[in-house]
Amino acid sequence: MNVISDIFESSDRYARCIQTSKRVRWDIDKDVIRGRKFDTAYKFLPDGLSLADAFTTLSADEKRYISQIQGRTYANIFGLVERFINAKVLELSEDHWFGDQVALEALVRFSDEELKHQALFRLVDAMIGEVLPAGYRFDIDHNVVARAVLGKSTWAVLALTLDIELFTQLHYRQSIDSDIQLSELFKDIFLFHWKEESQHAILDELEWVRHDAGLTADQRDTAVGEFIELVGAVDGMLQAQAKADGGYFTATCRRAVHEAEARAIEAAFLKAYRWQYIHSGAQHPHFHKVLSSLITEKQAQHVQLALAELQ
Ligand SMILES: [Fe+2]
Ligand SMILES: [Fe+2]
Repeated sequence: MNVISDIFESSDRYARCIQTSKRVRWDIDKDVIRGRKFDTAYKFLPDGLSLADAFTTLSADEKRYISQIQGRTYANIFGLVERFINAKVLELSEDHWFGDQVALEALVRFSDEELKHQALFRLVDAMIGEVLPAGYRFDIDHNVVARAVLGKSTWAVLALTLDIELFTQLHYRQSIDSDIQLSELFKDIFLFHWKEESQHAILDELEWVRHDAGLTADQRDTAVGEFIELVGAVDGMLQAQAKADGGYFTATCRRAVHEAEARAIEAAFLKAYRWQYIHSGAQHPHFHKVLSSLITEKQAQHVQLALAELQ
């Protein structure tokens, strides 16, 4: 394919994202929440995401409670990552201000949707707070994290962003498995989020490949290292939250939990969070395909090694 047809091809993909974005657009109250409240008789995350089986010492009721704690953390983590994703999208849009107006519109819609998703997840956090015991904590500052992430190169941030936006697709697929114990409201959160995230993942790829074309081999090599650092930083947050959520479970589960069991519960939380927020995206075939099309074999090995350490 020559350069001109490449440009038409990518412009067409931006245009198709706009069309789909208009068709699937939803409203938080009218489409997602619809006057409903969370019911603690149901799981909030499906077993395939909460890794219920990893919590080997817990009863079925306790595993359901674990899925509800993780559901609240799900809302908080998404609210957090969407802060830096949106800021990066707004920054990237500048490249199109005086160029492809179709690409610009696609990114403006992306940004608008991500602001709406943050509002949805803030609401979900507050609504879950009304039905779960007091004492839950999520102490990671969205803006501090966003500033730190945006301190890394655009290439590295886009790599992390594609990983994240692809795993929302897998999370949706997990949520539609027939499980009558899964909250209908939470199922809808997965469904509606996925509907808009599908376009975001396409735009991430377009922007990542476009940006990559302007880098030197040295710049790209540095960026691969920064992507590994970002994944490490995400893992640091997940470790802190696994500890916080493990402590919250132990303090509120209304039975004695001995030290060894408390550590095992924390470890299971961390395993679940690493699966939800790192590996489910990094192992996505499309992430693998795009990443390996941009980097060398040696760089790919560095990434694989770094990910393998987070098991
Ligand atoms: Fe989102
Ligand atoms: Fe998104």
